[in-house]
Amino acid sequence: MSRKKVTILTLQEKKNQGEPITMVTAYDFPSALAADRAGIDSVLVGDSLGMVVLGYDSTVPVTMDEMLHHCRAVRRGAQYAYLIGDMPFMSYQADRAEAVRNAGRFLKEADMDAVKLEGGRAMADTVRAISAAGITVIGHIGLTPQSVSQLGGYRVQGRTAADAQRLLEDALALQEAGAAMIVLEMTPDRVAAELSRRLRIPTIGIGAGAGCDGQVLVLHDMLGMFDRFTPRFVKKYADLFGQMGQALAAYRDDVVQRRFPGPEHAFPMEDAVWEEWRDDGLTR
Ligand code: KIV
Repeated sequence: MSRKKVTILTLQEKKNQGEPITMVTAYDFPSALAADRAGIDSVLVGDSLGMVVLGYDSTVPVTMDEMLHHCRAVRRGAQYAYLIGDMPFMSYQADRAEAVRNAGRFLKEADMDAVKLEGGRAMADTVRAISAAGITVIGHIGLTPQSVSQLGGYRVQGRTAADAQRLLEDALALQEAGAAMIVLEMTPDRVAAELSRRLRIPTIGIGAGAGCDGQVLVLHDMLGMFDRFTPRFVKKYADLFGQMGQALAAYRDDVVQRRFPGPEHAFPMEDAVWEEWRDDGLTR
């Protein structure tokens, strides 16, 4: 059977059928290609790129231009996955018309399928406006990294009954405003499972337990490419940073010890040509 491009209907159908949705972040052509070939349903070009690719301390400094640059590279690599562009801090919070215009840039300039933004009820009218412009919006509640200083750090959200109730109301408000999916980040597993049961639209969990309709992980965390810290909810499937370090040290040693390049890495010149050049050209 030929493979089909994943759409929002495919993802909704997975929820309806109780089939888990797979999502991963990617930020460039090769990682998008690898995710696509692995059969991942959806690729999020997350503003986490600010931390894991650009070396910022948080996602706050990430700009629209940086996001669009990486989204375009991901689009060139991923043919089938459902592609989501993450709206960076201050691209949608200050002004609703600006939010719609910036959301539109992800589709017009980077060919994304949808945009994601952080926040619950306070963002419902913005979600409604972007959605009314014909753009699919994904919500993101629980730990919202763009407001990490307001939250007092990277902490689990929804631990008390009152906080869990607020999360439920946020999720319902986003759904009612037209959000097509909701990312739940760092919420107790029971809260995430209950939200997933009550919502019509799919939930995608990150640090939110097994009761969500799908899972997302930051690529650099799961592949062990980011060595500053690894959150507890991450399962590490590789140690690519360690492997990269070993490979680079081996290359350095090979060059210093003159083991690289070998004859198999060089382009030989035929003897006759060499002799002609040596005798006629080099003697002049
Ligand atoms: O930016 C990102 O990678 C995200 C995920 C953590 C969901 O928003």
